Amino acid sequence: MTNERTAPREIPDGVRRGIFAVGCMAISAATLGFLGATFRFLVPNVLYEPSRRFDIGSPQDFPPGSVTFLPDRRLYVFNSADGFYAISSICTHLGCNVKRGGPGFACPCHGSQFDEDGQVVHGPAPSPLAWYALSLSPHTQLVVDLDRQVGPAFRLRA
Ligand code: FES
Repeated sequence: MTNERTAPREIPDGVRRGIFAVGCMAISAATLGFLGATFRFLVPNVLYEPSRRFDIGSPQDFPPGSVTFLPDRRLYVFNSADGFYAISSICTHLGCNVKRGGPGFACPCHGSQFDEDGQVVHGPAPSPLAWYALSLSPHTQLVVDLDRQVGPAFRLRA
């Protein structure tokens, strides 16, 4: 019985370089992935919302007796003989934009109707349209504050 030991095979230089290159690429990719994840972790997940207090223009932009719809703010601005007021156009049922229809508002989605003060006349809307506070800025601009709801008696005299 012979006890022959076989010598380990030599890996050719080209194959060795290839394995080294693949190893370097894998380490580089892992490092880039780690750095990318770390950088992403440092950036907070924040949704920037538009301000809830904003100006809508000068009182002269709203002629006496006018009703102006501001689609980007989803708001009706009235300039009545008593003063200015703002009513939300967001239906309290599922959030569609209500439309002016006669003296009040009508929702095109499911048929809710509101009177001229935004009170529910006909469901399915569960609650009245929101009224928001208006004020005058130091630069005599009308300012709407969506964080301050007011009642239907609210009027701003400008
Ligand atoms: S969203 Fe207005 S009635 Fe349904």
